[in-house]
Amino acid sequence: MNPHPDPKPHLIAPSILSADFSRLGAEIQEVIRAGADWIHVDVMDGHFVPNITMGPLVVEAVRKVAPDIVIDVHLMIENPERYIEDFAKAGATCISVQLEACTHLHRCLQQIHHVRCQAGVALNPATPPEGLSYVLNELDFVLVMSVNPGFGGQAFIPSSLEKIRVVRKMLTARGLDRRIQVDGGVNETTIAEVARAGCDVFVAGSAIFGRPPYQETIARLRRKIEEALL
Ligand code: DX5
Ligand code: ZN
Repeated sequence: MNPHPDPKPHLIAPSILSADFSRLGAEIQEVIRAGADWIHVDVMDGHFVPNITMGPLVVEAVRKVAPDIVIDVHLMIENPERYIEDFAKAGATCISVQLEACTHLHRCLQQIHHVRCQAGVALNPATPPEGLSYVLNELDFVLVMSVNPGFGGQAFIPSSLEKIRVVRKMLTARGLDRRIQVDGGVNETTIAEVARAGCDVFVAGSAIFGRPPYQETIARLRRKIEEALL
């Protein structure tokens, strides 16, 4: 089985979308050495989102250079059910699907568990969280998109904070201890509010990659989270 998600309360998940792809292996090893908890892999198909990025081959390459890290695969693709098994075989630990891309979301989550991965559901900025209501028991984490998916380096959409709070309330009301991940525009300026809203997995691409030394960059983000929750 692929490595299990971390028990730590707050996790930093660098998104390799902003890494230097000409030296991807080294970039990944450097952020892990610098304290990254998960490696976030953005899969885009040119249909669900306008951009095209990476597939199972890249996940396999990440797994090769980082045998023990949690690989968090974010599928921004149509018909994600077709590729779940391939990503699991390639080494994914967590797989999230976009709610908007799944006609049979419940079955999709079952499929992710069937291949022994942790299952997440991602919500676009305009998607109300109530759509999760009947699958809350089936998922391991909720991914609140705080930008419109497709590209790194976009500005954080403030209404995402309210959505994180609503999702946290929905989970608490059901007595569910699940992670909430936020993705998009997370940086030293926005991370404190995101933490206060109830998020515990912080995806950051452009706020980490290309900003060495990574150890200091990640430590600064962590410090902001800790200070926000004092
Ligand atoms: C956007 C992706 C994000 C992206 C975040 O569609 O899902 O994971 O890499 O990039 P930043 O942190 O630069 O907003
Ligand atoms: Zn992502």
